[in-house]
Amino acid sequence: MVGEKKPPVHGGTVFQTAAELGVPVAEIRDFSANINPLGLPSRARTALTRALDHLQHYPEMYADSLIRQIAATGGHPASGILAGNGSTELIYLLVRVLKPKTSLIIAPAFTEYQRAVKLYGGGVNFCQTLSGNDFIPQSQEIIKALDDKPDLLFMGNPNNPTGSLLAPEELCLVLEAARRRGTTCVVDEAFIDFVEGDSSMESRLENFENLVVLRSLTKIYSLAGLRCGYLLAHAGLVAELRRHQEPWNVNSLAIAAAREALADRAFIEESRRFIAGERDFLFRELSRISALRLFPSRANYLLMKLDSRYSARKLSDFLRRRHRLLIRLCPDFAGLDDSYLRVAVKDRAHNQVLVKGMEDFFA
Ligand SMILES: Cc1ncc(COP(=O)(O)O)c(C=O)c1O
Repeated sequence: MVGEKKPPVHGGTVFQTAAELGVPVAEIRDFSANINPLGLPSRARTALTRALDHLQHYPEMYADSLIRQIAATGGHPASGILAGNGSTELIYLLVRVLKPKTSLIIAPAFTEYQRAVKLYGGGVNFCQTLSGNDFIPQSQEIIKALDDKPDLLFMGNPNNPTGSLLAPEELCLVLEAARRRGTTCVVDEAFIDFVEGDSSMESRLENFENLVVLRSLTKIYSLAGLRCGYLLAHAGLVAELRRHQEPWNVNSLAIAAAREALADRAFIEESRRFIAGERDFLFRELSRISALRLFPSRANYLLMKLDSRYSARKLSDFLRRRHRLLIRLCPDFAGLDDSYLRVAVKDRAHNQVLVKGMEDFFA
């Protein structure tokens, strides 16, 4: 296997940081992973506690009850849904099964797409979005890049780390062009529940056999540690993916919590409102710092660029030591460099600490 030699870099290293700083985990303010500050919905927490009484049993082999529930709520056939131990498992499974020789990634992007493709010997091309366009993908640019007929296309919508969103109508143009060139498109909607309005491609699955929609429960339901995600695609592809999937990949605690969380639609509405308000607050407050250029975001995080007099790494070290606060540096994202950083939108008290910490650094 070819693959990247270096281990993956991700935010959310709270356990390691707490150990290094010699403080309890609860004292780490983590702005480096984009997790809903409202936490786990309370009914999911209750379901988790109840599920503890059944841990002696194997879970359903392929999270069947969870899949049936997703099917019933979304109006999809259950045969077009696959559950995963986090959506990351499904990214790797897709690549393992589809074996793309070449892939196109709309960049900068979540780095696991690239790692998965390279691990299984495929080549990666990037279609780079530009800071001058606030990193908003341009459908015509993507369509041009599809001329090379990549086997697979990955894009986040909204995208991580930029927070930019491509409108469903634009995405349909891309899917149409991809279909003509034989390209399967994975639209990663890990953060779609934070976006106001309906921008999901779920409802377009019927029209596009080459579309895979990837969903994660990690961010919106604040259950990164439990690991649960799913994908929606046409039944033929799902059957093939399942043939390669290990049994019991989603544990019974995750199934129980996910089922309750997904049934709580009011929680999504509340989270959207909350994040929109706090994102505006953070954007406004951080925009006062002249050394920062902030990019507009539709998700629960903000990407920003530091002016060349400052180092993002020094800022990160300062916030970590002085405020026990983690931010995400960006040099590992294709097209970004040391001057970029990404912060999660959290609750007001945390956001104020971030603003204060940043002001201290630049004072
Ligand atoms: C765009 C995107 N997709 C997928 C994932 C993986 O999420 P999960 O916890 O479901 O594996 C992440 C995590 O950061 C992400 O940013």
